Formats: sequence, C-alpha cells, structure tokens
Amino acid sequence: MDRKFFNDRGVIARWREFLPVTATTPVVSLNEGSTPLIHSPRLSALVGHGCRVFIKYEGLNPTGSFKDRGMTVAISKALEAGARSVICASTGNTSAAAAAYAARAGMGCYVLLPAGKIALGKMTQSIVHNAQIITVDGNFDDALRLVREVAESGAPVAVVNSINAHRLEGQKTAAFEIIDDLGEAPDAHFLPVGNAGNVSAYWKGYTEFHALGRSMKLPRMVGFQAAGAAPIFHDRVIDAPETLASAIRIGNPASWKLATAAMNDSGGAVDIVSDEEILLAQRWLAANEGIFVEPASAAGVAGLLRYTKDGALEGRALAPLRAVPDEGVIVITVTGHGLKDPDAILKQSIPLAPAIPATREAILGLLGA
Ligand code: F0G
Repeated sequence: MDRKFFNDRGVIARWREFLPVTATTPVVSLNEGSTPLIHSPRLSALVGHGCRVFIKYEGLNPTGSFKDRGMTVAISKALEAGARSVICASTGNTSAAAAAYAARAGMGCYVLLPAGKIALGKMTQSIVHNAQIITVDGNFDDALRLVREVAESGAPVAVVNSINAHRLEGQKTAAFEIIDDLGEAPDAHFLPVGNAGNVSAYWKGYTEFHALGRSMKLPRMVGFQAAGAAPIFHDRVIDAPETLASAIRIGNPASWKLATAAMNDSGGAVDIVSDEEILLAQRWLAANEGIFVEPASAAGVAGLLRYTKDGALEGRALAPLRAVPDEGVIVITVTGHGLKDPDAILKQSIPLAPAIPATREAILGLLGA
C-alpha cells in the first residue's frame, strides 16, 4: 500500500522541523493533533465588543486528550533510545496516552495512579491497552515523586511524565495549529492548569512561531486552577489538594516555574475557579455549544463565564481579559473528552424515568401530541 497512508498526519509528520526528531527516529503515532478550532458564537456574544471566542477541542485526539501530542514525541524518542518500557505518574490522561502509544510501539508501560482518584474512562483505557497499573496509596504528587525516584535510581525504564522535555515539545504544536488556523496568534489564551506543562508548552509554541515571523503578536496566557488545588495561585505547595476535577487535583506541579514565567511574561495571569463553576461550565458548553468535555477541561470556560457575568468583576484574570481589544480573539483550550468521566455527570443527574410501554399512545402521550 502507498506510503502516504502511514504516519502522514500526526503531530510529528505535520510539525517535524520544529520537533527533536531526525529522519531515523521511529515515529510512533496514532494520527494525533490537527484538532478543530471551533468558533463559539455564544461565548463570543457574552464577551461582546466584536470579540470572537474559539474552542480548541483537544478531546478529539486519539485517546481523548491533549496528552497524545506529547506522547507521540516522548514514545518515539524512547523507542529511538532503545527503551523497552516506560513509566509515568498520572491523574488518568497521561497514563491513557502512555498506555496506548506504548502498546503501539510494542513497549511495556507502568502507570502510577493515585488510589481511588482516577475517572472511570481513563482507568478503562490503561486496562485495555495492557499497562501495568500500580495503584499508589497517596495522591498524584506522591506518585510523581516515586517516578522521579525511579528515574534517579537508573532503573531501565523511560520516564514519560512532562519532566521529560519531549512531552512539552509535542504539546507546543497545538499553538502552531491555532496560528495556522487563525492566520495570527489570539489576543488571549485560556486553559486549565494542573501539573502546569500545557500552559508552558503553548507559550513555547507561541514564542517560537512569533520569533520565526509566523505571527505578529503573542497571546496573554491565562491559566485556571481548581480552587482546592491551586498551588501556583497561592504560591505555595498544597499538601492535600481537593477538587472533583480529578485531572487537575495536583498540589506541587512539575512545571511550576515554566508556567509562572509563561503567565507573567505574556502579561497573563493565574486564577482559580470553584468546583461549582467548573461543573456549570461543563454543562453550559455541552448544552449550548454541543461540546462535551471532562470537568477539568471546562476550567478555562468557567473562567470566561465568570468574567462575563454581571457583577463578577474581581479576580486576577480580569486585567488580561480587559486588555483584549475590540474585535479581538480569545482561544480556550478544552483538554479532554467528556466521556472520560461519565460519573461526573451521572452523579449530578436525576435518574432516568421508568421504561414506557412500546406503544404509539405512550410515546405520543409523552410528546404531548
Ligand atoms: N486537563 C486535563 C484533562 C488533564 O488531564 C490535565 C493534566 C490538565 C488539564 C492539566 O494540564 O498538567 O499540563 O497543567 N493531566 C495530567 C495527567 C496531570 O496525569 O493526565 P497540565
């Protein structure tokens, strides 16, 4: 079959010249990236001033989250270096991506997961891709500490957490795609912050394309942490982070310094959203724009909704939002698919009504016809 049917669409194929790969690097890809940038007329109307708001829908990557962008690079490089197996700590999405890409590469995969804190869909992914699941009696920060200790011990296993720089290299390609789609960088970029790799990676992507003259401006990077898991916002390690947005339940982020630099250097900010705001934003986006994301992924939308609501004009994200000019552009990254965490919705919903008889009368009665 024609070569062009193989590995011709993934992040490495599309952005090879900007990534740490050579002609001999074995490319492990599932055709990740090139996700849609979806115009949101309703969010745009809420912001007003002729602004346009776009959603970068990263839930449409092969394993359902933005993690695939970094994982294709990290796993390809690990394979090139001769690694037989990889390891990561995760709140669920990194492990799902690592498990899938390791399976594709024919490598072993160990995932360290905080006990009882992983959403159902993500746990299912690690199982089905045959990862060795190691449940840690602790939180994500404990699991990441263990992975660092494994790395220091010299054990023959490649670390694919974002402390591996190849991960951020892959993730920066989302910024390239946005500039490609819009023809220019946005004025502001909103996104959730957990282990703080993604905001750092986007900033790297934006600054690289700016330096190459592919964009004339740089966006203000505005990161949102969950109120109960907001170490960067409070500028201190949080020992027992708590939020129902399990993907970002992190108290000591690995890319803390890089993320702080990204948000400061860009004239952006770090802010917080409550669990209630996150759930409302998740429902709002699904009901009003047809886009279903997991709770953590809705943090950026929650932030924007807060600042476009009457009277809610306090908080650190206000200044960067006000700096968006008339007819400006805001991009919000939604990081993972809603089907990752069905419980988040089902737990808040009323039970289904009992089954109706399979008759015309019964259905027409229900429809009020
Ligand atoms: N959104 C989702 C859906 C995530 O899974 C994560 C992180 C984030 C946002 C935050 O991104 O860490 O780059 O600031 N998930 C990691 C994991 C920690 O293990 O899957 P970040």
